[in-house]
Amino acid sequence: IPDSRELVGRPPMPANLEDEKSLDEHHKRRADWQMALQGHLKSLEARQMIEFQSHDEITYALTAEGYGIAHSGSQEARLFAALPPGGDEAKTLDELKKELGADVLKIGQGKAFAKRWARKHPEKQGALARMPGVEEIVDDTAEDLREIRRSGTLQDGQRVNDLKKRKLVVQKKLLWFSITKGPQFSLKIEKLATDLSAEMLQSGEWKTRPFKKYNFDAEGVMPVTGALHPLLKVREEFRNIFFEMGFTEMPTNRFVDSSFWCFDSLFVPQQHAARDMQDTFFIKSPAAAKHIPEDYLSRVTAAHEDGGPYGSTGYGYKFSRDVTEKLVLRTHTTAVSAAMLYELANRPGGFKPAKMFSIDRVFRNEAVDATHLAEFHQVEGVVADYNITLGDLIGFMQIFFAKMGVTNLRFKPAYNPYTEPSLEIFSYHSGLGKWVEIGNSGMFRPEMLRPMGLPEGVNVLGWGLSLERPTMIRYGINNIRDLVGHKISITDVERAPAVRFP
Ligand code: PHE
Repeated sequence: IPDSRELVGRPPMPANLEDEKSLDEHHKRRADWQMALQGHLKSLEARQMIEFQSHDEITYALTAEGYGIAHSGSQEARLFAALPPGGDEAKTLDELKKELGADVLKIGQGKAFAKRWARKHPEKQGALARMPGVEEIVDDTAEDLREIRRSGTLQDGQRVNDLKKRKLVVQKKLLWFSITKGPQFSLKIEKLATDLSAEMLQSGEWKTRPFKKYNFDAEGVMPVTGALHPLLKVREEFRNIFFEMGFTEMPTNRFVDSSFWCFDSLFVPQQHAARDMQDTFFIKSPAAAKHIPEDYLSRVTAAHEDGGPYGSTGYGYKFSRDVTEKLVLRTHTTAVSAAMLYELANRPGGFKPAKMFSIDRVFRNEAVDATHLAEFHQVEGVVADYNITLGDLIGFMQIFFAKMGVTNLRFKPAYNPYTEPSLEIFSYHSGLGKWVEIGNSGMFRPEMLRPMGLPEGVNVLGWGLSLERPTMIRYGINNIRDLVGHKISITDVERAPAVRFP
């Protein structure tokens, strides 16, 4: 088999070559066919049945218009044929237009004049005649096109260029193969064994049976698996930081919690704006919590009303049990921290110092925009020990944020009802060229800690930040709705690279 151009099975020429669309489709089918042919040759080569070489050649193919001319002659030749012989008689442009069509006449006239086949009749206005003395012409354009149709090119490159300019031919790459018999040449394709079986070993068939070659370049098939959401990847990094620093994880499986744990245990006064319907989602049914530890509740009540025995004046209002029972979607994970600190204070063996963290969802009644959703994740840590100071808090923040690659912190006094002092944490964002708030922190107030039963001398520091902000920065996401919710791209989630803090 010397030449793949001889091979049968190539796609048939379309019925109407002069139709641009079917010609285009034909070229596409041909390209597919070439790829398929190459694939078959490769697999025969892999079996050593053949050897082959690929060749690239520049050739030319006729356009739909080119096929039209190869079939019916060029515009100029058709015009010539339409004109009366001799050169004396003429035909008016109107007549010619009717006979040939406006396009053929327009192009034909230009070319026939240039080739000196025809001219404007010297006397008859608006009429064309053959050039006197020209009895016969050679339709070189049509001949050239027929030659290209047959062989793919012309001897004379200049003439090919002219046809290209007239958009009668286009350049095409022809891929062809020269093929010779290989050592395993055969007219039958034997099925190659892919695995060595026990039967083959027993029967001795393995000695003669042809095996399929291993393809060590093949890429593995991507396993069908789920993918972790970017928030979960960044959460994992935060968890690792906390574990590295000796923290234990708090159970956060209480999206719905009482106002008692969300606010009152944290010494947030019952009139505080954060407890409004504008800020907090309240639960309709059931609306009230059933279990609140009674003796602890009475101590919290005292702390709020007049400070009780905790060295505070309290807020000086009448504490409402109805308000504390109201169920809410927790507005911060500090509700969990409060419950865990209460548990820590009341452990059977007595209080032991602890470092605890949580990362989970919180809910706020917010207008949704590019940077706010009605729910987000908080990353929160608390450290409870004797004699903890503000210096410990600042030192902790420096170590913690350095582990996620954020150094150069600044602290600004802030206000939380449950911490005093409170510090907002800022870091310099070189991209934005300004200091941005990255967290909130503080030393929990004695009005919160003493009613819980934490021993005198035990202080607790705490801090919180959102999981979304560092995730958006890590992945370069500007709109929170590209990260969370029904508009996110599953493909982006699948392709999101793993995150490592430096
Ligand atoms: N709860 C605070 C917030 O929602 C974070 C915080 C936690 C502040 C612990 C101080 C101590 O922003």
